[in-house]
Amino acid sequence: MVNISIVYDSNFKGQTEVLANSIASGINSIKNASGHLVHVDKVEENWSLLHGSQAIVFGSPTYIGSVSGKFKLFVEKLAGEVWLKRMWKNKIASGFTVSAGRSGDKLNCLNQMFIFASQMAMIWVPQPILGGHYSSEGSENDLNRIGGYVGVMAQANIDESCEIAPPQSDRETARLHGVHIGCITSQFVCGQSSMPFEDEAPFEGDVEQRPLGLAELF
Ligand SMILES: Cc1cc2nc3c(=O)[nH]c(=O)nc-3n(C[C@H](O)[C@H](O)[C@H](O)COP(=O)(O)O)c2cc1C
Repeated sequence: MVNISIVYDSNFKGQTEVLANSIASGINSIKNASGHLVHVDKVEENWSLLHGSQAIVFGSPTYIGSVSGKFKLFVEKLAGEVWLKRMWKNKIASGFTVSAGRSGDKLNCLNQMFIFASQMAMIWVPQPILGGHYSSEGSENDLNRIGGYVGVMAQANIDESCEIAPPQSDRETARLHGVHIGCITSQFVCGQSSMPFEDEAPFEGDVEQRPLGLAELF
């Protein structure tokens, strides 16, 4: 069984949470994959779940063209031993966001998540569904209607509740991304167990040589 955590924030209307649920339902449809939702407010009581997960999917609304403040506070907690001890190295990572604007500058939000994951030595998985609504033949009902690939991009009208926004096409795009993450993580974990390698990283276990951690610097 592979465990996949979805760490997300959702403050305004619960629209990011809708996508988090869609991703979890996609993950849970894969045999041997189990999706776990963790709101950023509940991270403190879920560190062992996160450390034990083989994949972590990041989700944040786009606020002022960025991840939300609460999501960033969660990420800054990783700058301690998670970063220093490479605790999340080789976990699968991915991300999703929603904004009111079609763009809303949400690419920046996914780029931030990609950088956070890279600093933790995680393996970023993009969103593979071909972009929809590309031509006069397309529509808002198309999967990946925003045409984004770094992660799942959704759009929710700012005057609508999370019962209807984001629309079904975005929810289904998110669900299928959950299926994808479930498959990729299962394959990766299987591959790791059938072809294990000695760890190649310097500094591991070598306290004399490694960079100083935050606890030492503060
Ligand atoms: C403080 C704040 C800042 C926002 N900034 C943006 C923005 O930069 N671009 C945009 O398109 N929408 C922006 N929005 C709209 C949200 O991205 C959108 O409503 C989103 O679906 C909210 O998700 P949530 O209900 O999970 O919090 C902002 C909303 C709030 C409350």
